[in-house]
Amino acid sequence: MSIETPPITAASLQRLKREGRKFACLTAYDATFASVLEEAGVEVVLVGDTLGMVVQGHGTTLPVSVDDVVYHTSLVARANRRALLMADMPFMSYASPAQALSNAARLMQEGGAHMVKLEATGPALEVVGALAEHSIPVCAHLGLSPQSIHKLGGYRVQGRGEAAEAMLADARAMEAAGADIVLLECVPSALGEAITEALSIPVIGIGAGPACDGQILVLYDMLGITPGRRPKFSKDFMAGRESIAAAVGAYVQAVKDGSFPGPEHCFD
Ligand code: KIV
Repeated sequence: MSIETPPITAASLQRLKREGRKFACLTAYDATFASVLEEAGVEVVLVGDTLGMVVQGHGTTLPVSVDDVVYHTSLVARANRRALLMADMPFMSYASPAQALSNAARLMQEGGAHMVKLEATGPALEVVGALAEHSIPVCAHLGLSPQSIHKLGGYRVQGRGEAAEAMLADARAMEAAGADIVLLECVPSALGEAITEALSIPVIGIGAGPACDGQILVLYDMLGITPGRRPKFSKDFMAGRESIAAAVGAYVQAVKDGSFPGPEHCFD
């Protein structure tokens, strides 16, 4: 590791937030794409459980196992030098603090993750507290929680109307419990802004408006290669560009200069 390129940590993301500098995040599932992201200066690489859909071809993220995420995280870790490497905790891998601790340990020890992410539903507050107590960096994913898809009944915008206050309270509670980052998926831009302003930890958004400290997209969506309809909050950065590296570079630039997400990628 060269002295000129210190690794990105939770502390450096907090500094970017304080300085009002946006940061770029993307998913990756293998070493080759991880190298492209590294070259483009992506600050956070997430080995998301979206791998169940975009790599394994399932209809939801539910079939993904801890073994799957450990494996894909280890592939990304081999090529990653600078980015903060976040690994998703799959469905039902963090139903109790004890289970979460043992699975998070696997993601870090065998996979090489620097931080774990979990969908902060149900008893997640206790789980986040237990991980933080054991010095395991954790990102709390709020808003649309794809692991709850069968309960939610569809991929819909969350936190509208009266639910906004409750989500703001949940975000504050996650910070108080020791979360290092909050990730907001599919919420109105005004709520994304309110939560970003209320927390001192960084907030990463996907369909959560331009005010979030960082933005994340699923790599295959922003390369325009995910089959089917692209989500409203995503953008095809490959369109009009000749290489994947150029598309990823354009995304990083657009996040940093605030031109992505535009109004057409956001929710009221
Ligand atoms: O699993 C994933 O890729 C995610 C992103 C949608 C943020 O959680």
